[in-house]
Amino acid sequence: MKQSEFKKRRKLLMQRVGKGNIALISSADVRIRNRDVDYPFRQDSDFYYLTGFNEPDALAVFIPGREQGEYILFCREFDKKKALWEGAHSGLEGATKHYAADDSFPIDDVDEILSGMLENQNKVFYPMGRDSDLDHSLQAWIKHIRSQSRSGVIAPAEIASIEPILHEMRLFKSSAELELMRRAANVTAQAHVKAMQLCKAGRYEYQIEADIVHHFMQAGLRAVAYPSIVAGGKNACVLHYTANSDKLKNGDLLLIDAGAECDHYAADITRTFPISGKFNEPQAQLYQLVLDAQLAAIEQLQPNTPWNAAHDASVEVITKGLVKLGLLKGSVKKLIKDEKYKQFYMHRIGHWLGMDVHDVGDYKLNQEWRTLQAGMVLTVEPGLYISENCKTVDTKWRGIGIRIEDDVLITKTGHEILTDGVPKTIVDIEALMARNQSETGGESGL
Ligand code: GLY
Ligand code: MN
Ligand code: MN
Repeated sequence: MKQSEFKKRRKLLMQRVGKGNIALISSADVRIRNRDVDYPFRQDSDFYYLTGFNEPDALAVFIPGREQGEYILFCREFDKKKALWEGAHSGLEGATKHYAADDSFPIDDVDEILSGMLENQNKVFYPMGRDSDLDHSLQAWIKHIRSQSRSGVIAPAEIASIEPILHEMRLFKSSAELELMRRAANVTAQAHVKAMQLCKAGRYEYQIEADIVHHFMQAGLRAVAYPSIVAGGKNACVLHYTANSDKLKNGDLLLIDAGAECDHYAADITRTFPISGKFNEPQAQLYQLVLDAQLAAIEQLQPNTPWNAAHDASVEVITKGLVKLGLLKGSVKKLIKDEKYKQFYMHRIGHWLGMDVHDVGDYKLNQEWRTLQAGMVLTVEPGLYISENCKTVDTKWRGIGIRIEDDVLITKTGHEILTDGVPKTIVDIEALMARNQSETGGESGL
């Protein structure tokens, strides 16, 4: 991502924050995994969106109209020993030189310097209630200014969340952002194809996970956007199954929900396919129903259509289908009104997608579902999950979990599916998997 893109974002943010006010946003922390081992560092998405600065222990400050410079970055000072053990970091000079900060200061001096910057500002915007260190520090800085009121300084009178401003910006993707999202989507689609090709009974779920991550990294994408779900058979009925520890069995379906991250932008794809390469009859019937629901939902994705239209379309298709197959009984209208479908389809149709897999942005404005607009990206992911303990349905349906998920961009004239590089019709999936069988000589080929 070019510096000019970050600059554009900061300019817009400062316009919205307004002169006489100040905005603060802190970096993510390094988190401890165990003893002296850390988790891989992932920058806070809001902080990265505005700065492109990929280090912990940093605070960005925006003061629209400040004569000495509007964008100030507090960060770690360059430390030779740290560089030797942990690698490069920008230091104060790098913050201004490479990240276009107007001014930079050591993060260790933030208490002294920031109180001064807050003096005589009207309103402080920051991610309220998200980082308790920043919550406490801000209170302490304001208290400190108040204690000096007799010398004529005034403490900010208002504190507001920066999120409504920033998250509304993040909801609409620029062409530079879409380029990264398309790359994440394409690589993820290829990895799902690979998983279908490498799937064989007898392998473990985590081995398929390894195939997927292997593909991401070979394609140049270092991180997953979220922990991969690789769920064979009834494990697919556990919505957030990430143990990925079971052996794959012929006769079961395999649900894979996995996505790569490309320079902090996520893809999020789910496919469900038969481990043997061929759906049995009940699996095919439920699969086709989920696919029909997904296609009906995608059809609703047009500018000016309310967000919930796609969800409602999926609920209607799924309820009708469940009645037809005998999993629900009664009038479709009443079943929808009583939300009877929720025992099998218990989540919503999807979510915004961007730097965070469940991305930021309001779904309702003034308590009404907002309308879709060009530049928004969302997932469409209906599913059916029939618990193995569900006594109200025929045994042939039990233990089947299916979800189909694509990432869709709203365009000026309709939509574009970013993840259509991986098959999802029964015919296409079976054709792809039949090719593996013939290439490897079937199961004996393993
Ligand atoms: N992978 C998380 C989700 O699909 O929402
Ligand atoms: Mn999703
Ligand atoms: Mn997903």
